[in-house]
Amino acid sequence: MSAASTADVPVRPIAIIGGTGPAGMGLALRWARAGETIIIGSRDPLRAQQAAAAVLLKAGPQAKISGTENATACAAADILMLTVPFEGQASLLKQLKPAMTPGSILIDATVPLAAGVGGRASRTLGVWQGSAAEQAAEIVPEEVSVVAAFHNLSAELLYGDLPLDCDVIVCSDDPDAAQLTSDLAKKIPGVRAIFGGKLENARIVEQITALLIGLNFRHKGHAGIRITGLPPGAYR
Ligand SMILES: NC(=O)c1ccc[n+]([C@@H]2O[C@H](COP(=O)([O-])OP(=O)(O)OC[C@H]3O[C@@H](n4cnc5c(N)ncnc54)[C@H](OP(=O)(O)O)[C@@H]3O)[C@@H](O)[C@H]2O)c1
Repeated sequence: MSAASTADVPVRPIAIIGGTGPAGMGLALRWARAGETIIIGSRDPLRAQQAAAAVLLKAGPQAKISGTENATACAAADILMLTVPFEGQASLLKQLKPAMTPGSILIDATVPLAAGVGGRASRTLGVWQGSAAEQAAEIVPEEVSVVAAFHNLSAELLYGDLPLDCDVIVCSDDPDAAQLTSDLAKKIPGVRAIFGGKLENARIVEQITALLIGLNFRHKGHAGIRITGLPPGAYR
């Protein structure tokens, strides 16, 4: 039997839900450059197409990127990257629930910033479930695995050309979904992925973002995190 050629590998698109903002467009750019097929989702299909066109311009004509309405994007992919503000997260997920395919992975980067309710961006809100990611897990169908990741990456740096200087802590109750997310994280130059344990640890990772935002205000920078002192095998 001959070995499978790359042509036999099925394309597994990544739908970036709420992908028209800085975080979604930054991830779209980096993954498009890495050869991933990207579908940008939006509440407005035209805005999604415009965002896809802007990313295509930066990523180059070989990039595989399109834009459509969130539910259509959701139905067309089984890797769902959620990049919406906390204040829209729950209602959007409830709306998209019927469009989610069983076995899908939802990667959540939501940070429950107090800015969403008129507070400071350097403070977070208490979430009844413990974290935005756990709130997401409560809403999506049982057959959808939730992973928390990418909270600590600067969107501004992601939408640029230089390698990042940041680790991505990946939390999930599903080891396979966590590994797939780590593999995607590693496709971003300068990023290492570290498994951070169960989804309940997302509450800690989400809080770090508020600290980084405070540091950025104070020191006028784009702060990231590096976890040191672990054996090489921890960075996966
Ligand atoms: N910015 C960063 O550096 C960064 C880094 C790490 C994590 N995050 C987190 O990632 C998420 C996205 O960040 P962002 O800066 O890209 O956010 P954003 O620009 O405020 O929002 C992203 C997109 O979400 C959609 N959206 C806004 N309000 C919505 C609502 N009420 N319901 C449904 N969709 C809504 C909008 O798309 P349409 O209008 O086109 O639908 C918008 O373009 C946030 O939770 C943030 O905390 C951000």
